[in-house]
Amino acid sequence: MSDRKLDHIQLTNSSQAIGAPISDLFYYEPLLSSHREDIDLSVEFLGKKLKLPLWVSSMTGGTGAARHINNNLSKVAGKMGIGMGLGSCRPLLDSNEFLDDFNLKHNLGDYPFWANLGVAQVQECLDRGQKEQVIDIINKTNADGLIIHVNPLQEWMQPEGDQFTTAPINTIKDSLDVFDFPIIVKEVGQGMGIESLKSLMELPLSAIEFAAYGGTNFTTLEKSRAKGIDEIHTCITSVGHTALDMVEMSNQLINENKHLACQNFIISGGIRDYLTGYYLMEKSLGNCVFGMASPFLEKADSGEKDLLDFVLDIEKGLKLASQFLRIRN
Ligand SMILES: Cc1cc2nc3c(=O)[nH]c(=O)nc-3n(C[C@H](O)[C@H](O)[C@H](O)COP(=O)(O)O)c2cc1C
Repeated sequence: MSDRKLDHIQLTNSSQAIGAPISDLFYYEPLLSSHREDIDLSVEFLGKKLKLPLWVSSMTGGTGAARHINNNLSKVAGKMGIGMGLGSCRPLLDSNEFLDDFNLKHNLGDYPFWANLGVAQVQECLDRGQKEQVIDIINKTNADGLIIHVNPLQEWMQPEGDQFTTAPINTIKDSLDVFDFPIIVKEVGQGMGIESLKSLMELPLSAIEFAAYGGTNFTTLEKSRAKGIDEIHTCITSVGHTALDMVEMSNQLINENKHLACQNFIISGGIRDYLTGYYLMEKSLGNCVFGMASPFLEKADSGEKDLLDFVLDIEKGLKLASQFLRIRN
């Protein structure tokens, strides 16, 4: 007790608030709750009950380093009762060499576990009349369904990138007609504008993952990978929509039409803390969870325990937020 009192005296000077509080987002309501542990954060999402409204956004697979990362991600997702999207399963179209990187359903138990392919690969399979190749990916991975990623800016910047032969919305509509498994659509870190968002919300998709602008930026990443891309193209890397922008656009669309077919969202892209995730979920009129990619990557690489501790901290923070913070509209 006396040590603590001494700490308080010594640390007072270095503990002054810097800048304005974040009261433009929340009302802080210290009087209305106790410190409760028994807060239920569970949510129904994609036909399953998640213990936390949290999602491991699609990342990796098909490279030596990916195996232990995916293993740790899937084990922690299963333990914490959250959903997970695999990184692109493209390597499985050609061979089973990397199947162990992706075949992780057993770690998830009954929590959502989704495969992933680029829209260009889905279109190629449809063009060749080989829809079985896509179905095989769902079967090989035992996934609940397929996440189709749509990334025209990344592909454009990537020297070996795919050129889309048809507008992605057509591929997605065709996929919904042709395949029996459920489908989620996402960007990869630039987000999307209101017309694209509306065109997706009109379809019977299981969810839309924002993969918004503000965090990992694959157009920038591809520009760094490629040698000799002229600096004039740097401007295109800054194009996109933040997760907040996308929550506001999706709210506007729901207000205009309460009957839009898809109102399930994985709010992701640039989310780096539980307060931002909590704020965006509370603000959204949709049924949602929030997702992160790169913050999980580093922890998963360093080990299962580090990743588990990180998710436990997010859980603690969400419980605290739900007791003492109310969002401001
Ligand atoms: C290493 C890495 C690999 C990724 N690979 C894929 C992928 O294969 N398919 C996909 O849909 N998104 C992929 N993404 C994009 C993420 O799912 C996510 O949309 C993006 O990183 C933005 O989220 P963040 O800011 O939390 O990282 C990848 C992200 C990272 C960091």
